[in-house]
Amino acid sequence: MLRADLAFPRRFLTSLLGACAFVGASAQAADKPLDVPYVPTPQQVVDRMLELGEVTKDTYVIDLGSGDGRIPVTAAKEHGARAMGVDLNPQRISEANENAKKAGVTDKVSFKQQDLFDTPIGEAQVLTMYLLPRVNVQLRPRILSEMTPGSRVVSHAFDMAEWEPDQRESVDGRTVYLWIVPAQVGGNWKVEGDKPFSLALEQQFQKVTGKATMDGKTVELTDVSLRGDELRFSLDGTAHTVRVTKDGLQAQDGSWKAVKA
Ligand SMILES: C[S@@+](CC[C@H](N)C(=O)[O-])C[C@H]1O[C@@H](n2cnc3c(N)ncnc32)[C@H](O)[C@@H]1O
Repeated sequence: MLRADLAFPRRFLTSLLGACAFVGASAQAADKPLDVPYVPTPQQVVDRMLELGEVTKDTYVIDLGSGDGRIPVTAAKEHGARAMGVDLNPQRISEANENAKKAGVTDKVSFKQQDLFDTPIGEAQVLTMYLLPRVNVQLRPRILSEMTPGSRVVSHAFDMAEWEPDQRESVDGRTVYLWIVPAQVGGNWKVEGDKPFSLALEQQFQKVTGKATMDGKTVELTDVSLRGDELRFSLDGTAHTVRVTKDGLQAQDGSWKAVKA
């Protein structure tokens, strides 16, 4: 499996070199040169990407660099989702619109000829991409600040460097990555409830560590996990499940809430 994982990016980069002439040609069609050449995702991999992202009829999917539109079209046709694709290359946009028409999903899907770096992503519950490592990493801060905690990012072939995926799978020799966008919880929190205490949380992407201080005594939190807007930890043997909201932290059992200190 490792061999396939390593081999695919190499294969992609070979395609990239092969596509250079094409990139040059399309760079004339679009004002800006393409950041990534056109290489379509095999349909089997598209299907699994949408399953991993838990796409349903209530999901809005955005595919950055949508090529012939196969990801948005499949999201609409097979899952009833609304979807949007953006691509710099006008030829790809025509193909994508044609494919949406053939699939009978023009009411659910739209394609825009625009730069993925200028595309707002905050409305998407699922963001899909088949780009390049450098592009993924460039998008990372925007994903973390614009997307709602709990929304999903699914990438074909390339990871996001230090932001480790929540899930990784091999599909037909390709690697597919899933990230759940984490809420921002790092910092100091003042817990108000029957027994007030303070929390100091350190966060790197979805990984959180922390300490609680109560009556002058500081203890490490254990079993800490963050998935979307749900933070869990144990403190002195008691398990806490906490919802992260725009107003602060809220214990699920209603016993306490916390605001930034
Ligand atoms: C590897 S293909 C992926 C196509 C499709 N998402 C798929 O998985 O089949 C990358 C696509 O990104 C488009 N692209 C490259 N740079 C772009 C940019 N800056 N903004 C929008 N699209 C871009 C290319 O034209 C190409 O269609």
